[in-house]
Amino acid sequence: MVETTISVIKADIGSLAGHVIVPDFLFELARKELKAAVEKKIIQDFHVTNAGDDLEFIMTHNKGENNEEVHRLAWETFMKGTELAREKKIYAAGQDMLADTFSGNVKGMGPGSAEMTFEERRSEPIAVFMADKTEPGAFNLPLYKVYADPFNTAGLVIDPNLHDGFRFVIQDIMKDVPCFIEMKCPEESYDVLALLGSTGKYTIKKVYRNDGMITASVSTDKLHAVAGKYVGKDDPVAIVRAHSGLPAMGEVLEAFTTPHLVSGWMRGSHAGPLLPVSLKDSRCTRFDGPPRVVALGFQVSNGKLVGPVDLFDDVAFDISRQRGMEVADYLRRHGPFQPHRLSDDQMEYTTLPKVLTRCKSRFIEEEIVPKGKSKDHSDSAE
Ligand code: F6R
Ligand code: MG
Ligand code: MG
Repeated sequence: MVETTISVIKADIGSLAGHVIVPDFLFELARKELKAAVEKKIIQDFHVTNAGDDLEFIMTHNKGENNEEVHRLAWETFMKGTELAREKKIYAAGQDMLADTFSGNVKGMGPGSAEMTFEERRSEPIAVFMADKTEPGAFNLPLYKVYADPFNTAGLVIDPNLHDGFRFVIQDIMKDVPCFIEMKCPEESYDVLALLGSTGKYTIKKVYRNDGMITASVSTDKLHAVAGKYVGKDDPVAIVRAHSGLPAMGEVLEAFTTPHLVSGWMRGSHAGPLLPVSLKDSRCTRFDGPPRVVALGFQVSNGKLVGPVDLFDDVAFDISRQRGMEVADYLRRHGPFQPHRLSDDQMEYTTLPKVLTRCKSRFIEEEIVPKGKSKDHSDSAE
């Protein structure tokens, strides 16, 4: 039995005119490198694309997840791209490349990755979701809806293959050592929601159908935690299989119609709506955003990728984008106030500790009445 692995590995290695869009020469370089890797049989097929300022490699092979050769290929390609981006003085060149040398796997080195291995069905439709200016927890709400909300996914109620529910593998991403829990829906849906609602702490890593069939995989690399300091956001990716006993592609996409609020807008320190956009709109501009997600659909066919289809390039999502832009406009009116600005512990940029150090000695334990000459108004009335 031959299994196919899909590896989506991404990094921000520099972008044009600020943190906006990957330059063409990086696509060209990446395509050349990955094409050579197909010839050397390191991978079977690939598609290179972008989510805003993130360069994305969608690759197929039969070497399994966390494969050193495949991860090395991505790493070295990002390194070569970084060199070129530096030469051309592209903005934030090499932003996500946190290590100097490769050590077996891109995990913990800066780039993000989502991978999934399966025996191909008779026909294998998949979607790859790629988001910019946000974090892995951004996928909690839509993926919960896909696999556990019958108001989103009709198949949960009317398709006998989905009726036994789904198993969520949830990761506590604040732990230094990866830490996971498996929970089952619908039986434990309230508990699942109790965790997934904390989007900055618990994120979906994988989803399996009740019988163990893998159906979704999310990147959960937390760049700023890895680096120990803020060096860019951990813009996430997710791979989802659809149809024939799994949620239909339309049910998967339906979950993205609410432009729900996510963290990561401007300086990784603001909340904003996640806009589902086509590739041509995969560029963050207004206030470096709003956060957005693109979705490419493929058929995986004997290890090859047939496609892509730009899934959000459809008027059916205009209403969601419009709603999202209204929410964005409203939130922007809050300027530096919460909840548009994130809470102290969630901001990736903050001057607050410095401000507090400066002010420390001025905090006293009684109410302050400002000193100064208080004017006697009865005198001045004479
Ligand atoms: C980076 C990002 C941006 C930057 C902001 C400040 O991916 O999303 O919002 O955080 O533009 O960038 P610097 O610090 O590079 O001037
Ligand atoms: Mg950037
Ligand atoms: Mg980005």
